[in-house]
Amino acid sequence: MEKKRVFSGVQPTGNIHLGNYIGALKQFVNLQDEMDCVYCIVDMHSITVPQDPKQLRETTLDVAALYLAVGLDPKKSIIFVQSTVPQHAELSWILTCNAYMGELGRMTQFKDKGKGSDSAGAGLFTYPILMAADILLYKAHLVPVGNDQKQHIEITRDLANRFNHKYGDTFVIPDYKGIEVGARIMALDDPLKKMSKSAENIHSRISLLDSPDKVKKSIMKATTDSEGVIRLDWENKPGVSNLLTIYSAFTDRKIDDIVGQYEGAGYGQLKKDLVEIINESLTPIRKAFEEKRNSEELMDILKDGRERASEIAEQTMKEVRDKVGFIRM
Ligand code: AMP
Ligand code: TRP
Repeated sequence: MEKKRVFSGVQPTGNIHLGNYIGALKQFVNLQDEMDCVYCIVDMHSITVPQDPKQLRETTLDVAALYLAVGLDPKKSIIFVQSTVPQHAELSWILTCNAYMGELGRMTQFKDKGKGSDSAGAGLFTYPILMAADILLYKAHLVPVGNDQKQHIEITRDLANRFNHKYGDTFVIPDYKGIEVGARIMALDDPLKKMSKSAENIHSRISLLDSPDKVKKSIMKATTDSEGVIRLDWENKPGVSNLLTIYSAFTDRKIDDIVGQYEGAGYGQLKKDLVEIINESLTPIRKAFEEKRNSEELMDILKDGRERASEIAEQTMKEVRDKVGFIRM
């Protein structure tokens, strides 16, 4: 039986944080042995908000190097940059012509980022269509992402079904692939908000490239509560629950088991141990990042990725152009 295809992407905006790692990248690595994986650095999504061109080029390579540093293997997975495969933009336009203003207006990410303003970028509005194009081009079965992207997978399914109905069976209908624990890591300073790349307070997140000292500061400062009991209770104890979730993701241990271990202990102990656990995992990632980021191999991997991705993308586009009624030459 043919392996199932997996597709996912990360925006090269700011530094990759623990939420990205636990919700997405860790899954990417785990899937690459059993599935046919395609992992993208979605720079075209990043320009839906203002970017400094020089900085964008740097962060694109940073994310590529981080992909490798966390364990993605270019022999197993296709790793490439979205803008180097123009078929993404092409399919995005065709899907745009089959999408509705209403369904796009209901996307919570647009509502959050666009804030209902008249000057909200049109790219922010059509963002989910480009994401659908990414996924559908490769006929992916599974899309590993954090749960903030669930709604975007839903609209991808709707767009795929609509196209298949109108033009005949073309696209695979993809499924969201989430994880049980850690699909939504919360901000350390405010556990009611998700950890994000753009929050102002640097202690709200831990970037994979943060120094051990920064990790320590951010965890020790993390918001908890005054009860002093370590247990999982998202409603009343979101801060402690978030720390337990991060702990569980890094150790692959069940939360119940961790809670048992800390019976009678205080938050200080939990935090101290967590700092060590995180640093133990991040130190080799940081080291590998430095090596990969400065290696000549990096560009070769991305070129090879572009070739392999283009081949699949062009095959799908030939079919799509034909179905839509564009002439053949
Ligand atoms: P982005 O930084 O928006 O490109 O996100 C890259 C990946 O990380 C996506 O799969 C997101 O769903 C995931 N992600 C982002 N923030 C979080 C978070 N706080 N918790 C879990 N997953 C997240
Ligand atoms: N929208 C995703 C995010 O912000 C990134 C993304 C773009 C993506 N295209 C994708 C994720 C395709 C999965 C599949 O996290």
